[in-house]
Amino acid sequence: MTSVTASHAADLVAALLFILSLAGLSQHRTSRAGVVYGIAGMALALVATVVVAAQSITAGVVALIVLAMAFGAAIGLWRARRVEMTQMPELIAVLHSFVGLAAVLVGWNSYLEVESHGTAQTRIGADLLGIHHAEVFIGVFIGAVTFTGSIVAFLKLSARIDSRPLILPGKNALNLGALGAFAVLTAWFTISPNLSLMIAVTVLALALGWHLVASIGGGDMPVVVSMLNSYSGWAAAAAGFLLDNNLLIVTGALVGSSGAYLSYIMCKAMNRSFISVIAGGFGIAAPAGHEEEQGEHREVRAVEAAELLAQARSVIITPGYGMAVAQAQHPVAELTRQLRERGVEVRFGVHPVAGRLPGHMNVLLAEAKVPYDIVLEMDEINDDLADTSVVLVIGANDTVNPAATEDPGSPIAGMPVLRVWEAEQVIVFKRSMASGYAGVQNPLFFRENSSMLFGDAKQSVEEILHALSTDSRRGAAPAARQATVAGH
Ligand code: TAP
Repeated sequence: MTSVTASHAADLVAALLFILSLAGLSQHRTSRAGVVYGIAGMALALVATVVVAAQSITAGVVALIVLAMAFGAAIGLWRARRVEMTQMPELIAVLHSFVGLAAVLVGWNSYLEVESHGTAQTRIGADLLGIHHAEVFIGVFIGAVTFTGSIVAFLKLSARIDSRPLILPGKNALNLGALGAFAVLTAWFTISPNLSLMIAVTVLALALGWHLVASIGGGDMPVVVSMLNSYSGWAAAAAGFLLDNNLLIVTGALVGSSGAYLSYIMCKAMNRSFISVIAGGFGIAAPAGHEEEQGEHREVRAVEAAELLAQARSVIITPGYGMAVAQAQHPVAELTRQLRERGVEVRFGVHPVAGRLPGHMNVLLAEAKVPYDIVLEMDEINDDLADTSVVLVIGANDTVNPAATEDPGSPIAGMPVLRVWEAEQVIVFKRSMASGYAGVQNPLFFRENSSMLFGDAKQSVEEILHALSTDSRRGAAPAARQATVAGH
């Protein structure tokens, strides 16, 4: 078997491993296997690429490639070991920006190669030159949009810039104008390629990527991250065409289409228009005046919260980003265990975008060994909230904000939320009256049946556990207390 045939075979096996990886990652049970398939596919693809490249380049260049790979792998391992789970989306955004930048560099390299050598020393036949020019242009465009878009997403997710949407006058016209200009430039470049058009498309796409993501508000960022994931896939596929690398085309298409589908599912879950989000918040009105406080709030101490919980018939816990920051999942799991032992019905209500990445809360709760059967999705539990004694909102904010259903002018209007305010009592665990990720004030905090338990969520839950254990030591027999509550 020649090395080229062997490399085609390796490409095919790697592509199959990537498909198995995606299938595996779609379920908790099989996700570990999914990761292993992905690693195996990528390792095979890298080895096959280097082996084929080694046929036509000097040993010195091969050594440089291996060195670059070792250097990249070392940085990747170092970052992966250090990254907190709450920082995963920002890490993913940075990685997408690398894919975008790589696609831009591949496009530029391919253009300059043809310019300096003509088609004689490249794989491109003279009859396919027009197609090559279009490939270069489209690849650079998608790559540059992905590059700056991902950088803005990274800056917003890591709170280095404000997460509120940037509303420039005529922002939709700017986006549509940029797309129109891209179409005209592509036709022009295909007919008469030149350096100034390459520079023009690069600058145009860099500006468009920046503006598209800057125009989207914090609450919609999960959709944007998966949308950029999709763009990075298409950028990789475009680079695959230029490099004549079938595996890159297949992998890029897999990432591009799965990312697009994930964005679509997320938009449906959050009641957002897919077109509106991918068009940089097309049709979304400018938010105004949603940050001011809206009345008096009440405070509760851990000891009082413990008393309320000990007497409750049913408790629902709605965790959010703050639980992850505080790493409160273990004391929360312990609280759940103790309350259930006392005969209190405890369940969890998990919002689809609670935290900072899909499934964030489910992973934390599973890590703390909270039984799966009491962890319910928002749609499964929302109707039960009205019949609940106490809801503990632990580090959640946007996902329990009544403004989403009651204030049509709110930036998060229309987003489905957990209707925690329908319960008899709500205790909100957070450190201050600050707004959540979307930068919108939460009227829940000022409701008659809500109380704020200020402080780090982990510490507050531990204080409640301490108060409960002191309470039991004082001899309040759980069963007797339960009978009192039932008869109450
Ligand atoms: P958020 O709205 O982000 O609110 C989290 C709250 O936790 C904050 O109000 C903060 O208040 C509190 N907090 C932070 N650290 C804390 C600590 N150590 N102890 C106690 N409280 C703490 O959370 P959410 O309800 O989970 O909503 C998620 C938001 O992120 C949504 O807007 C969503 O669109 C967005 N988002 C989600 C994803 C995915 S895929 N899940 C990805 C990107 C963005 P204090 O500062 O006052 O403590």
